[in-house]
Amino acid sequence: MPLLDRLGRRINNLRISITDRCNFRCVYCMPEEGLKWFPRKDILTYEEIARFVGIASGLGIDKIRLTGGEPLVRKDVPELVRLLKAIPALKDVSLTTNGYSLKEIAGKLYEAGLRRLNISLDTLDAEKYAQITRRNVFGKVMEGIEEARRVGFDPIKINVVAMKGLTEAELVDFAALGREKSYQVRFIEFMPLDADRHWDRADILTAEEIVTGIDTAYPLERVAEGVTAEPATLYRFRDGKGEIGVIASVTEPFCEQCNRVRLTADGKLRTCLFSIRETDFREPLRNGASDRDIAERFRKAVWDKEPGHLINTVGFARPARSMSQIGG
Ligand code: 5AD
Ligand code: SF4
Repeated sequence: MPLLDRLGRRINNLRISITDRCNFRCVYCMPEEGLKWFPRKDILTYEEIARFVGIASGLGIDKIRLTGGEPLVRKDVPELVRLLKAIPALKDVSLTTNGYSLKEIAGKLYEAGLRRLNISLDTLDAEKYAQITRRNVFGKVMEGIEEARRVGFDPIKINVVAMKGLTEAELVDFAALGREKSYQVRFIEFMPLDADRHWDRADILTAEEIVTGIDTAYPLERVAEGVTAEPATLYRFRDGKGEIGVIASVTEPFCEQCNRVRLTADGKLRTCLFSIRETDFREPLRNGASDRDIAERFRKAVWDKEPGHLINTVGFARPARSMSQIGG
């Protein structure tokens, strides 16, 4: 029996935040001074995560993405990748990172069996990079991306949070980078998940603006909707040199096709990025619940998945957690 919610959506995708900590302070995510980190004892161990995934995979979860905070600030991530790769029902394990540690760790992640990476890169200008991430490390991140490619990661997807006034001027440069290096560049509309709560609708660079901006330099055509329920709408360069993705979370929500749920670093299941309620799994994992109990609890939580986010409605209320505490 597939894992379904009450609207008939089939859920097969689990995003796992393995830490809420981060070595960056991106303006659209964290305040300059950081956030109050979860106490270490509240963070699920790798064994707890692997047990949870084992149970979830028995119910129909077959895609896992590791996120943070910044997942690579946690120790021994390759060890976790190994534990997950040993779960036979999983078809796919991937990781989203800011790229800071890739230069050192990409090879070890690859050896552990990881093959897919999403790397955040919001600008190609070193100074702007320092302003956005509040860390002056553009060169190191670019070297990390190169290293990931060198050791064999494929595909490499580049995540660009698209913001008015920041991203327009670089749309074509990003497209050129993707074409040259065979990265899939994906633009993500800025969402109201910044801890500073500065988000304003006017700050979004919309999917439409993004596509128009690139199309003038490199003509695009929309790729027909495939079998995957990926949030990115894909556009192919008409000359065949790759594709870009646009994630229109705000202006064209894809909630009806959503196939994912999220586990936070402190063990709460969130069935929507914008969930107001959560289901705790840490307590059952630590206090002797059987696999069956946990499976039942998981199935129930998934069944109650929210129909969709309400960003575009008057009554929209932001969740208490910001992006790094949820896992993007
Ligand atoms: N809006 C959109 N995307 C965001 N990310 C972090 N905060 C936001 C936000 N407020 C992105 C990161 C990363 C992914 C996990 O989520 O850049 O690529
Ligand atoms: Fe860290 Fe990612 Fe948030 Fe930037 S967006 S502060 S890299 S968690």
